[in-house]
Amino acid sequence: MDHFNYQQNRLFAEQCALTDIATEFGTPCYVYSRATIERHYQAFASAAAAHPQSLVCYAVKANSNLAILNLLARLGSGFDIVSGGELRRVIAAGGDAKKVVFSGVAKTAEEMRFALQLGIKCFNVESVAELERLQQVASSLNIKAPVSIRVNPDIDAKTHPYISTGLKANKFGIDILLAGDIYRQAARYSHLDVVGVDCHIGSQLTETQPFLEALEKLLTLIDALASDGIMLKHIDIGGGLGVTYDNETPPSPADYISKVVARLTAYPQLELIMEPGRAIMANAGVLLTKVEFLKPGQEKNFAIVDAAMNDLIRPALYSAWQAIVPVERDSAKTAATYDIVGPVCETGDFLGKDRELAIAQGDLLAVRSAGAYGFTMSSNYNSRPRAAEVLVDGDKLHLIRQREQWQDLWRGEQVITD
Ligand code: LLP
Repeated sequence: MDHFNYQQNRLFAEQCALTDIATEFGTPCYVYSRATIERHYQAFASAAAAHPQSLVCYAVKANSNLAILNLLARLGSGFDIVSGGELRRVIAAGGDAKKVVFSGVAKTAEEMRFALQLGIKCFNVESVAELERLQQVASSLNIKAPVSIRVNPDIDAKTHPYISTGLKANKFGIDILLAGDIYRQAARYSHLDVVGVDCHIGSQLTETQPFLEALEKLLTLIDALASDGIMLKHIDIGGGLGVTYDNETPPSPADYISKVVARLTAYPQLELIMEPGRAIMANAGVLLTKVEFLKPGQEKNFAIVDAAMNDLIRPALYSAWQAIVPVERDSAKTAATYDIVGPVCETGDFLGKDRELAIAQGDLLAVRSAGAYGFTMSSNYNSRPRAAEVLVDGDKLHLIRQREQWQDLWRGEQVITD
């Protein structure tokens, strides 16, 4: 459930009309609902609270705006990061380093050093080579690095191939069949402290079954390690819970997490860590855009809007479907079928295809479910300044990121003089 609803044919974010937001901040513009974000976070946190110890580590990559990270930090959230940049954002937003888990297949020595000095909760290690690098960096600082091994459980998450991560053919994690030996090796390193196990099998999963299969495999590994005297303190089940973009029916966070908690009753000593990103943010945001031109054609009608693939790349990159709705519904307008396309010079620059809409030039459209992997994946392609971001809180509006200025486009560039 989210807080984007029509009131007398005008689309609102909480108590703010999107038309007013467009007037005040211009388009394209990302709009987020604070109440929705908080509701989604609490859905995970409260379901997990049935287990003796738990921590939601929000996946920063989904939406890393400082204001969003700060809201989540204030609710007690931890963070799943994948770069030194994300770690710096978490700290800048007032997040607690002690609640940070660090994922990613290619952590540099500098990133490890920085994270160790801040005292993060855990490194989610993805290869033997990474274990060795971490041991070296940690020993040079004379700090013990808390380590979890990201195991690859070889489970088909039944999602888009680009966002499936738990199969043997994917680059992520360590084959679960080899993990036991690697844990034993890690336990012998002087500056590693083996504390947990983690996995992340993919994103936008719409069934609980693959998650529960992965959980079973992790528990089998935990039992085997315990019989060798390696006692893990936490289990991190990753992120990946899907959302409704169209007519998908994913389990709710409460359904999913309560099943995990039920299975973990035999393991009260294990802290449960989750890394949701999309499920917290996707339906808490829309991308607001204006129709520049309608261009009727023999085969296709195009609605050319001022947002493009550089603002929201999911449709172009994954053929993702996101709802596109008029901000003001007007029954006097006649409907037609449009491809919603942007100004970028690529045929792949579309936000939606074959959408039935009753619209006119100058109308505003909202691309729904754009709060996750929207702004964070945006770019300056075609020298387009990146969009503004606005957070709605009841009847209050906060500009949480200014629209980029022209000079931002070439910041750091230099012409040569000879
Ligand atoms: N943890 C790890 C280690 C991850 O790799 C990811 C996402 C998450 C947590 C969060 O997963 P979520 O709960 O958001 O599904 N750009 C793609 C999604 C890429 C996801 C990458 N990893 C998209 O727009 O669909």
